[in-house]
Amino acid sequence: MNRSANATVVGLQWGDEGKGKIVDALAGVSRYVVRFCGGANAGHTVTVNGQKFAMHLIPCGILHDGVLNFVGNGVVFDPATALGEIDALLSRGVAVSPDNLRISSAAHVVMPWHKAQDSLSEQRLGGGKIGTTARGIGPCYADKANRSTAIRVGDLACPDALAEKIRHVAEIKNKVFSSLFGAEALDAEAIVPEFIEYGRRLAPMICDTGHLLRLACRKGEPILFEGGQGIMLDVDHGTYPFVTSSAVSACGVPQGAGVPPGATGTVVGLVKAYTSRVGAGPFPTEQSNEIGDRLRERGREYGTTTGRPRRCGWLDAFAVRYAAELSGVDELALALLDVLTGFDELKVCTGYRVGGRDLEAFDVTAMGAAECTYESFPGWTSDITACRKFDDLPPEAQQYVKRVGELIGRPVAFISVGPDRQQNIVHRTRLEGLK
Ligand code: GDP
Ligand code: IMO
Ligand code: MG
Repeated sequence: MNRSANATVVGLQWGDEGKGKIVDALAGVSRYVVRFCGGANAGHTVTVNGQKFAMHLIPCGILHDGVLNFVGNGVVFDPATALGEIDALLSRGVAVSPDNLRISSAAHVVMPWHKAQDSLSEQRLGGGKIGTTARGIGPCYADKANRSTAIRVGDLACPDALAEKIRHVAEIKNKVFSSLFGAEALDAEAIVPEFIEYGRRLAPMICDTGHLLRLACRKGEPILFEGGQGIMLDVDHGTYPFVTSSAVSACGVPQGAGVPPGATGTVVGLVKAYTSRVGAGPFPTEQSNEIGDRLRERGREYGTTTGRPRRCGWLDAFAVRYAAELSGVDELALALLDVLTGFDELKVCTGYRVGGRDLEAFDVTAMGAAECTYESFPGWTSDITACRKFDDLPPEAQQYVKRVGELIGRPVAFISVGPDRQQNIVHRTRLEGLK
Protein backbone atom coordinates (compact mmCIF):
# COMPACT_ATOMS: atom_id res chain seq x y z
CA MET A 1 0.00 0.00 0.00
CA ASN A 2 1.30 3.44 -0.92
CA ARG A 3 0.45 5.35 2.21
CA SER A 4 1.64 8.75 1.05
CA ALA A 5 -0.63 8.76 -2.03
CA ASN A 6 -3.75 9.09 0.13
CA ALA A 7 -5.10 12.10 1.98
CA THR A 8 -7.86 12.78 4.49
CA VAL A 9 -9.58 16.12 4.97
CA VAL A 10 -11.25 16.69 8.34
CA GLY A 11 -12.78 19.73 9.99
CA LEU A 12 -11.16 20.72 13.30
CA GLN A 13 -13.95 22.93 14.67
CA TRP A 14 -17.76 22.64 14.55
CA GLY A 15 -18.06 22.02 10.82
CA ASP A 16 -18.31 24.42 7.88
CA GLU A 17 -14.57 25.09 7.91
CA GLY A 18 -14.43 25.08 4.09
CA LYS A 19 -13.85 21.33 3.60
CA GLY A 20 -15.74 21.26 0.29
CA LYS A 21 -13.42 23.80 -1.24
CA ILE A 22 -10.20 22.05 -0.22
CA VAL A 23 -11.57 18.60 -1.17
CA ASP A 24 -12.33 20.00 -4.61
CA ALA A 25 -8.75 21.31 -4.83
CA LEU A 26 -7.19 18.01 -3.72
CA ALA A 27 -9.58 15.91 -5.87
CA GLY A 28 -7.65 17.15 -8.88
CA VAL A 29 -4.74 14.89 -7.85
CA SER A 30 -6.86 11.97 -6.58
CA ARG A 31 -8.40 8.94 -8.24
CA TYR A 32 -11.10 8.36 -5.60
CA VAL A 33 -12.99 10.68 -3.26
CA VAL A 34 -14.80 9.03 -0.36
CA ARG A 35 -17.35 10.23 2.21
CA PHE A 36 -17.01 8.11 5.35
CA CYS A 37 -19.26 9.73 8.01
CA GLY A 38 -22.41 11.74 8.51
CA GLY A 39 -25.06 12.21 5.88
CA ALA A 40 -27.16 15.01 4.48
CA ASN A 41 -26.45 17.05 7.61
CA ALA A 42 -23.28 18.06 5.75
CA GLY A 43 -23.30 20.97 3.35
CA HIS A 44 -20.06 21.29 1.40
CA THR A 45 -19.70 24.24 -0.93
CA VAL A 46 -17.53 24.33 -4.01
CA THR A 47 -17.40 27.45 -6.17
CA VAL A 48 -16.05 27.12 -9.70
CA ASN A 49 -15.74 30.31 -11.73
CA GLY A 50 -18.46 31.94 -9.66
CA GLN A 51 -20.80 28.92 -9.98
CA LYS A 52 -21.74 27.60 -6.56
CA PHE A 53 -22.36 23.90 -5.88
CA ALA A 54 -23.67 22.82 -2.46
CA MET A 55 -23.12 19.09 -1.86
CA HIS A 56 -24.82 17.17 0.92
CA LEU A 57 -24.28 13.51 0.13
CA ILE A 58 -22.40 13.46 -3.16
CA PRO A 59 -18.63 13.71 -2.62
CA CYS A 60 -17.00 16.92 -3.86
CA GLY A 61 -14.79 15.00 -6.30
CA ILE A 62 -17.84 14.76 -8.61
CA LEU A 63 -16.85 18.00 -10.34
CA HIS A 64 -13.59 16.46 -11.61
CA ASP A 65 -13.32 14.19 -14.64
CA GLY A 66 -11.62 10.87 -13.95
CA VAL A 67 -12.50 10.77 -10.24
CA LEU A 68 -14.58 7.88 -8.89
CA ASN A 69 -16.65 9.04 -5.89
CA PHE A 70 -17.78 6.78 -3.08
CA VAL A 71 -20.42 7.12 -0.40
CA GLY A 72 -18.89 4.84 2.22
CA ASN A 73 -20.51 2.37 4.60
CA GLY A 74 -20.19 4.84 7.51
CA VAL A 75 -22.57 7.32 5.89
CA VAL A 76 -26.30 7.49 6.60
CA PHE A 77 -27.78 7.78 3.14
CA ASP A 78 -30.95 9.68 2.29
CA PRO A 79 -31.93 8.48 -1.19
CA ALA A 80 -34.36 11.33 -1.88
CA THR A 81 -31.71 13.96 -1.09
CA ALA A 82 -29.05 12.10 -3.06
CA LEU A 83 -31.25 11.71 -6.14
CA GLY A 84 -32.26 15.38 -5.90
CA GLU A 85 -28.60 16.29 -5.81
CA ILE A 86 -27.77 14.00 -8.72
CA ASP A 87 -30.60 15.51 -10.81
CA ALA A 88 -29.46 19.04 -9.96
CA LEU A 89 -25.89 18.21 -11.01
CA LEU A 90 -27.08 16.60 -14.25
CA SER A 91 -29.19 19.66 -15.07
CA ARG A 92 -26.06 21.80 -14.67
CA GLY A 93 -24.09 19.64 -17.09
CA VAL A 94 -22.14 17.61 -14.49
CA ALA A 95 -21.96 13.93 -15.47
CA VAL A 96 -23.14 11.54 -12.72
CA SER A 97 -23.33 7.80 -13.40
CA PRO A 98 -21.93 4.52 -12.05
CA ASP A 99 -18.72 5.56 -13.82
CA ASN A 100 -18.11 8.28 -11.26
CA LEU A 101 -20.41 7.55 -8.30
CA ARG A 102 -20.83 4.42 -6.18
CA ILE A 103 -22.75 3.90 -2.96
CA SER A 104 -21.90 1.33 -0.33
CA SER A 105 -24.48 -1.43 0.04
CA ALA A 106 -23.64 -1.37 3.77
CA ALA A 107 -24.50 2.32 4.28
CA HIS A 108 -27.71 2.83 6.24
CA VAL A 109 -30.81 4.40 4.72
CA VAL A 110 -32.41 7.45 6.28
CA MET A 111 -36.13 6.66 6.29
CA PRO A 112 -39.08 9.06 6.72
CA TRP A 113 -39.49 7.91 10.34
CA HIS A 114 -35.90 9.00 11.11
CA LYS A 115 -36.59 12.55 9.98
CA ALA A 116 -39.92 12.61 11.81
CA GLN A 117 -38.30 11.33 15.00
CA ASP A 118 -35.45 13.85 14.73
CA SER A 119 -37.93 16.75 14.60
CA LEU A 120 -40.30 15.33 17.22
CA SER A 121 -37.58 14.66 19.77
CA GLU A 122 -36.10 18.12 19.23
CA GLN A 123 -39.55 19.65 19.81
CA ARG A 124 -39.88 17.61 22.94
CA LEU A 125 -36.49 18.80 24.26
CA GLY A 126 -37.68 22.40 23.86
CA GLY A 127 -35.07 24.79 25.29
CA GLY A 128 -32.66 21.89 25.83
CA LYS A 129 -32.66 20.84 22.19
CA ILE A 130 -29.47 19.88 20.34
CA GLY A 131 -30.29 22.05 17.35
CA THR A 132 -29.90 19.21 14.84
CA THR A 133 -30.23 19.66 11.10
CA ALA A 134 -33.49 17.60 11.25
CA ARG A 135 -32.09 15.29 8.57
CA GLY A 136 -32.78 12.13 10.61
CA ILE A 137 -29.11 11.54 11.32
CA GLY A 138 -29.23 10.55 15.01
CA PRO A 139 -32.28 8.26 14.70
CA CYS A 140 -30.77 6.51 11.67
CA TYR A 141 -27.46 5.80 13.46
CA ALA A 142 -29.48 4.64 16.48
CA ASP A 143 -31.29 2.10 14.30
CA LYS A 144 -27.96 1.02 12.82
CA ALA A 145 -26.81 0.13 16.33
CA ASN A 146 -30.21 -1.39 17.11
CA ARG A 147 -29.96 -3.67 14.01
CA SER A 148 -33.48 -5.12 13.96
CA THR A 149 -35.07 -1.84 12.81
CA ALA A 150 -32.40 -0.85 10.27
CA ILE A 151 -32.56 -0.68 6.49
CA ARG A 152 -29.35 -0.64 4.45
CA VAL A 153 -28.65 0.64 0.96
CA GLY A 154 -28.23 -2.97 -0.24
CA ASP A 155 -31.87 -3.61 0.79
CA LEU A 156 -33.05 -0.95 -1.69
CA ALA A 157 -32.09 -3.19 -4.57
CA CYS A 158 -34.33 -6.12 -3.43
CA PRO A 159 -37.94 -4.85 -3.80
CA ASP A 160 -39.84 -7.72 -2.17
CA ALA A 161 -37.63 -7.96 0.90
CA LEU A 162 -37.54 -4.15 1.12
CA ALA A 163 -41.35 -3.92 1.13
CA GLU A 164 -41.53 -6.47 3.91
CA LYS A 165 -38.92 -4.65 6.01
CA ILE A 166 -40.57 -1.26 5.55
CA ARG A 167 -43.96 -2.61 6.66
CA HIS A 168 -42.39 -4.33 9.66
CA VAL A 169 -40.34 -1.32 10.84
CA ALA A 170 -43.11 1.21 10.13
CA GLU A 171 -45.46 -0.72 12.39
CA ILE A 172 -42.97 -0.51 15.27
CA LYS A 173 -42.18 3.15 14.62
CA ASN A 174 -45.85 4.10 14.45
CA LYS A 175 -46.46 2.52 17.85
CA VAL A 176 -43.58 4.55 19.31
CA PHE A 177 -44.67 7.75 17.58
CA SER A 178 -48.26 7.57 18.78
CA SER A 179 -47.48 6.57 22.37
CA LEU A 180 -44.45 8.81 22.91
CA PHE A 181 -45.23 11.85 20.80
CA GLY A 182 -48.96 11.52 20.03
CA ALA A 183 -47.92 11.85 16.40
CA GLU A 184 -49.78 10.72 13.28
CA ALA A 185 -48.92 7.32 11.85
CA LEU A 186 -46.72 7.09 8.78
CA ASP A 187 -48.29 5.34 5.80
CA ALA A 188 -46.10 2.32 5.00
CA GLU A 189 -48.07 1.67 1.79
CA ALA A 190 -46.95 5.05 0.46
CA ILE A 191 -43.36 4.57 1.59
CA VAL A 192 -42.95 1.16 -0.07
CA PRO A 193 -43.33 2.23 -3.74
CA GLU A 194 -41.35 5.43 -3.11
CA PHE A 195 -38.33 3.52 -1.81
CA ILE A 196 -38.62 0.75 -4.42
CA GLU A 197 -38.37 3.48 -7.05
CA TYR A 198 -35.28 4.98 -5.33
CA GLY A 199 -33.75 1.51 -5.35
CA ARG A 200 -34.49 1.07 -9.05
CA ARG A 201 -32.68 4.31 -9.90
CA LEU A 202 -29.75 3.77 -7.55
CA ALA A 203 -29.18 0.02 -8.12
CA PRO A 204 -26.44 0.43 -10.78
CA MET A 205 -24.39 2.49 -8.30
CA ILE A 206 -24.77 0.20 -5.28
CA CYS A 207 -21.77 -2.03 -4.58
CA ASP A 208 -19.16 -3.12 -2.04
CA THR A 209 -17.19 0.13 -1.98
CA GLY A 210 -14.80 -1.15 0.71
CA HIS A 211 -13.64 -3.94 -1.59
CA LEU A 212 -12.89 -1.48 -4.40
CA LEU A 213 -11.06 0.85 -2.03
CA ARG A 214 -8.90 -1.90 -0.59
CA LEU A 215 -8.01 -2.88 -4.15
CA ALA A 216 -7.07 0.74 -4.84
CA CYS A 217 -4.93 0.76 -1.66
CA ARG A 218 -3.07 -2.32 -2.89
CA LYS A 219 -2.43 -0.68 -6.26
CA GLY A 220 -1.32 2.58 -4.62
CA GLU A 221 -3.98 4.64 -6.41
CA PRO A 222 -4.53 7.95 -4.60
CA ILE A 223 -7.63 8.11 -2.41
CA LEU A 224 -8.99 11.26 -0.79
CA PHE A 225 -11.25 10.84 2.24
CA GLU A 226 -13.73 13.69 2.62
CA GLY A 227 -14.69 14.34 6.23
CA GLY A 228 -18.05 15.72 7.27
CA GLN A 229 -18.79 17.96 10.28
CA GLY A 230 -15.84 18.81 12.59
CA ILE A 231 -14.04 17.16 15.50
CA MET A 232 -15.91 19.18 18.12
CA LEU A 233 -19.09 17.52 16.80
CA ASP A 234 -17.63 13.99 17.05
CA VAL A 235 -19.93 11.61 18.94
CA ASP A 236 -17.11 10.48 21.28
CA HIS A 237 -14.70 13.38 21.37
CA GLY A 238 -16.86 16.45 20.83
CA THR A 239 -19.02 18.64 23.07
CA TYR A 240 -21.40 15.78 23.95
CA PRO A 241 -24.42 15.77 23.87
CA PHE A 242 -24.29 18.74 21.49
CA VAL A 243 -22.67 16.68 18.76
CA THR A 244 -23.62 14.64 15.72
CA SER A 245 -23.91 10.84 15.85
CA SER A 246 -20.82 9.59 13.99
CA ALA A 247 -17.03 9.39 14.25
CA VAL A 248 -15.96 12.36 12.16
CA SER A 249 -12.22 12.52 12.82
CA ALA A 250 -9.59 10.71 10.75
CA CYS A 251 -10.10 7.85 13.22
CA GLY A 252 -13.49 7.35 11.53
CA VAL A 253 -11.95 6.74 8.09
CA PRO A 254 -11.02 3.05 8.37
CA GLN A 255 -14.36 2.12 9.93
CA GLY A 256 -16.50 4.33 7.73
CA ALA A 257 -14.78 3.49 4.44
CA GLY A 258 -13.75 -0.13 4.95
CA VAL A 259 -10.00 0.42 4.61
CA PRO A 260 -7.11 -0.47 6.94
CA PRO A 261 -6.02 2.11 9.55
CA GLY A 262 -2.89 3.16 7.65
CA ALA A 263 -4.91 4.19 4.60
CA THR A 264 -5.75 7.68 5.83
CA GLY A 265 -2.48 9.00 4.36
CA THR A 266 -1.69 12.67 4.90
CA VAL A 267 -4.29 14.15 7.23
CA VAL A 268 -5.22 17.73 6.36
CA GLY A 269 -7.00 19.54 9.19
CA LEU A 270 -9.33 22.31 8.08
CA VAL A 271 -9.45 25.38 10.29
CA LYS A 272 -11.59 28.41 9.74
CA ALA A 273 -9.53 31.54 10.53
CA TYR A 274 -12.18 32.27 13.21
CA THR A 275 -14.92 29.98 14.57
CA SER A 276 -18.52 29.27 13.68
CA ARG A 277 -21.06 26.91 15.15
CA VAL A 278 -24.65 26.04 14.19
CA GLY A 279 -26.95 24.55 16.80
CA ALA A 280 -26.69 24.54 20.57
CA GLY A 281 -23.77 23.78 22.89
CA PRO A 282 -20.71 25.40 24.44
CA PHE A 283 -18.65 27.84 22.39
CA PRO A 284 -16.10 29.63 24.61
CA THR A 285 -14.85 32.15 22.02
CA GLU A 286 -18.35 33.10 20.81
CA GLN A 287 -18.83 36.81 20.23
CA SER A 288 -22.50 37.66 20.77
CA ASN A 289 -21.81 41.24 19.84
CA GLU A 290 -20.87 43.40 16.86
CA ILE A 291 -17.67 41.34 16.29
CA GLY A 292 -19.73 38.17 15.88
CA ASP A 293 -22.23 40.02 13.66
CA ARG A 294 -19.43 41.32 11.49
CA LEU A 295 -17.85 37.86 11.12
CA ARG A 296 -21.27 36.45 10.17
CA GLU A 297 -21.94 39.08 7.54
CA ARG A 298 -18.42 39.12 6.07
CA GLY A 299 -18.19 35.31 6.07
CA ARG A 300 -21.82 34.87 4.90
CA GLU A 301 -22.24 32.53 7.83
CA TYR A 302 -25.64 31.03 7.14
CA GLY A 303 -25.99 27.22 7.07
CA THR A 304 -25.46 25.47 3.73
CA THR A 305 -27.94 22.78 4.79
CA THR A 306 -30.52 24.60 6.93
CA GLY A 307 -29.91 28.30 6.19
CA ARG A 308 -29.67 28.99 9.95
CA PRO A 309 -27.46 31.94 11.00
CA ARG A 310 -24.22 30.52 12.39
CA ARG A 311 -22.89 31.63 15.78
CA CYS A 312 -19.49 33.29 15.29
CA GLY A 313 -16.42 34.08 17.39
CA TRP A 314 -12.63 34.16 17.52
CA LEU A 315 -10.41 31.23 16.64
CA ASP A 316 -9.95 28.81 19.53
CA ALA A 317 -6.40 27.47 19.05
CA PHE A 318 -6.56 25.63 22.39
CA ALA A 319 -9.48 23.50 21.17
CA VAL A 320 -8.11 23.11 17.63
CA ARG A 321 -4.78 21.86 18.98
CA TYR A 322 -6.68 19.07 20.74
CA ALA A 323 -8.65 18.31 17.57
CA ALA A 324 -5.48 18.20 15.48
CA GLU A 325 -3.77 15.87 17.91
CA LEU A 326 -6.77 13.55 18.11
CA SER A 327 -7.04 13.34 14.34
CA GLY A 328 -3.31 12.85 13.69
CA VAL A 329 -3.26 15.99 11.57
CA ASP A 330 -0.12 16.40 9.45
CA GLU A 331 -0.94 19.71 7.79
CA LEU A 332 -3.39 22.53 8.33
CA ALA A 333 -5.52 24.34 5.80
CA LEU A 334 -6.50 27.76 7.08
CA ALA A 335 -9.68 28.94 5.39
CA LEU A 336 -11.67 32.17 5.12
CA LEU A 337 -8.65 34.27 6.07
CA ASP A 338 -10.07 37.08 3.89
CA VAL A 339 -13.05 37.38 6.25
CA LEU A 340 -10.69 38.84 8.89
CA THR A 341 -9.67 41.75 6.64
CA GLY A 342 -10.62 45.11 8.11
CA PHE A 343 -10.57 44.25 11.83
CA ASP A 344 -8.30 46.59 13.87
CA GLU A 345 -7.51 43.84 16.32
CA LEU A 346 -7.76 40.05 16.03
CA LYS A 347 -7.85 37.60 18.91
CA VAL A 348 -6.97 33.93 19.22
CA CYS A 349 -7.80 31.84 22.28
CA THR A 350 -4.71 30.16 23.71
CA GLY A 351 -6.09 28.63 26.91
CA TYR A 352 -9.02 28.38 29.32
CA ARG A 353 -9.56 29.52 32.88
CA VAL A 354 -12.05 27.51 34.87
CA GLY A 355 -13.03 28.63 38.37
CA GLY A 356 -10.27 31.26 38.31
CA ARG A 357 -7.52 28.77 37.45
CA ASP A 358 -5.67 28.16 34.17
CA LEU A 359 -6.47 24.76 32.77
CA GLU A 360 -3.26 22.81 32.19
CA ALA A 361 -4.60 20.47 29.54
CA PHE A 362 -7.54 20.86 27.19
CA ASP A 363 -10.71 19.30 28.55
CA VAL A 364 -13.72 19.19 26.26
CA THR A 365 -16.10 18.83 29.23
CA ALA A 366 -14.81 22.10 30.70
CA MET A 367 -15.78 24.14 27.65
CA GLY A 368 -19.16 25.17 29.03
CA ALA A 369 -17.54 26.85 32.06
CA ALA A 370 -14.40 28.14 30.36
CA GLU A 371 -13.22 31.73 30.24
CA CYS A 372 -10.77 32.30 27.42
CA THR A 373 -7.22 33.61 27.58
CA TYR A 374 -6.50 35.50 24.37
CA GLU A 375 -3.49 36.55 22.37
CA SER A 376 -4.07 39.74 20.33
CA PHE A 377 -2.86 40.51 16.83
CA PRO A 378 -2.90 43.64 14.72
CA GLY A 379 -5.33 43.42 11.79
CA TRP A 380 -4.80 44.36 8.13
CA THR A 381 -6.87 46.44 5.77
CA SER A 382 -5.80 45.51 2.25
CA ASP A 383 -7.87 43.05 0.20
CA ILE A 384 -6.13 39.64 0.22
CA THR A 385 -8.53 37.77 -2.08
CA ALA A 386 -6.12 38.02 -5.05
CA CYS A 387 -3.06 36.80 -3.08
CA ARG A 388 -1.68 33.53 -4.48
CA LYS A 389 1.64 33.34 -2.63
CA PHE A 390 2.37 33.59 1.08
CA ASP A 391 4.61 36.58 0.47
CA ASP A 392 1.72 38.42 -1.25
CA LEU A 393 -0.10 38.60 2.09
CA PRO A 394 0.28 41.76 4.21
CA PRO A 395 2.82 41.28 7.05
CA GLU A 396 0.05 41.26 9.68
CA ALA A 397 -1.74 38.41 7.90
CA GLN A 398 1.53 36.48 7.58
CA GLN A 399 2.12 36.95 11.31
CA TYR A 400 -1.40 35.73 12.10
CA VAL A 401 -0.98 32.58 9.95
CA LYS A 402 2.44 31.75 11.39
CA ARG A 403 1.33 32.17 14.98
CA VAL A 404 -1.86 30.16 14.44
CA GLY A 405 0.26 27.28 13.10
CA GLU A 406 2.53 27.51 16.16
CA LEU A 407 -0.36 27.61 18.60
CA ILE A 408 -2.02 24.59 16.99
CA GLY A 409 1.32 22.83 16.67
CA ARG A 410 1.02 21.89 12.99
CA PRO A 411 2.33 23.49 9.77
CA VAL A 412 -0.06 25.58 7.71
CA ALA A 413 0.05 24.02 4.24
CA PHE A 414 -2.87 25.77 2.53
CA ILE A 415 -4.45 29.17 2.96
CA SER A 416 -7.83 29.95 1.44
CA VAL A 417 -8.52 33.61 0.67
CA GLY A 418 -11.90 33.40 -1.05
CA PRO A 419 -14.62 30.90 -1.97
CA ASP A 420 -13.52 30.28 -5.55
CA ARG A 421 -11.47 27.26 -6.61
CA GLN A 422 -8.59 29.56 -7.64
CA GLN A 423 -8.40 31.54 -4.39
CA ASN A 424 -5.75 29.43 -2.68
CA ILE A 425 -2.24 29.81 -1.42
CA VAL A 426 -0.38 26.51 -1.44
CA HIS A 427 2.22 27.09 1.21
CA ARG A 428 4.15 24.05 2.41
CA THR A 429 2.42 20.79 1.61
CA ARG A 430 3.91 17.34 1.35
CA LEU A 431 1.13 16.20 -0.97
CA GLU A 432 2.40 15.21 -4.40
CA GLY A 433 1.13 17.28 -7.31
CA LEU A 434 0.35 20.33 -5.21
CA LYS A 435 3.76 21.52 -4.13
P1 GDP B 1 -17.79 22.81 4.70
O1 GDP B 1 -19.02 22.25 5.31
O2 GDP B 1 -16.60 22.64 5.59
O3 GDP B 1 -17.52 22.28 3.31
O4 GDP B 1 -18.02 24.38 4.56
P2 GDP B 1 -19.36 25.11 4.01
O5 GDP B 1 -19.39 24.98 2.54
O6 GDP B 1 -20.54 24.68 4.76
O7 GDP B 1 -19.08 26.58 4.49
C1 GDP B 1 -17.98 27.29 4.06
C2 GDP B 1 -18.45 28.57 3.34
O8 GDP B 1 -17.36 29.43 3.15
C3 GDP B 1 -18.99 28.30 1.94
O9 GDP B 1 -19.98 29.24 1.66
C4 GDP B 1 -17.79 28.50 1.05
O10 GDP B 1 -18.13 28.88 -0.27
C5 GDP B 1 -17.10 29.62 1.76
N1 GDP B 1 -15.63 29.65 1.67
C6 GDP B 1 -14.77 28.60 1.64
N2 GDP B 1 -13.50 29.05 1.69
C7 GDP B 1 -13.58 30.41 1.73
C8 GDP B 1 -12.62 31.45 1.84
O11 GDP B 1 -11.42 31.23 1.90
N3 GDP B 1 -13.11 32.72 1.91
C9 GDP B 1 -14.43 33.01 1.87
N4 GDP B 1 -14.79 34.27 1.95
N5 GDP B 1 -15.37 32.06 1.79
C10 GDP B 1 -14.94 30.77 1.73
P1 IMO C 1 -20.46 20.06 7.45
O1 IMO C 1 -19.97 18.75 6.88
C1 IMO C 1 -22.07 22.32 10.81
C2 IMO C 1 -24.42 20.09 13.76
C3 IMO C 1 -25.86 20.54 13.85
C4 IMO C 1 -26.13 20.25 15.31
C5 IMO C 1 -25.36 18.96 15.56
C6 IMO C 1 -26.22 17.71 15.46
O2 IMO C 1 -21.17 20.92 6.46
O3 IMO C 1 -19.37 20.76 8.17
P2 IMO C 1 -27.26 16.41 13.38
O4 IMO C 1 -28.22 16.85 12.33
O5 IMO C 1 -25.97 15.92 12.83
O6 IMO C 1 -27.85 15.44 14.37
O7 IMO C 1 -26.97 17.74 14.24
O8 IMO C 1 -24.35 18.92 14.56
N1 IMO C 1 -23.94 19.72 12.39
C7 IMO C 1 -23.21 20.52 11.62
N2 IMO C 1 -22.82 21.80 11.80
N3 IMO C 1 -21.68 21.65 9.71
C8 IMO C 1 -22.05 20.36 9.53
O9 IMO C 1 -21.60 19.62 8.49
C9 IMO C 1 -22.89 19.75 10.48
N4 IMO C 1 -23.44 18.53 10.60
C10 IMO C 1 -24.08 18.51 11.79
O10 IMO C 1 -25.99 21.91 13.53
O11 IMO C 1 -25.54 21.25 16.12
MG1 MG D 1 -20.97 22.83 5.73
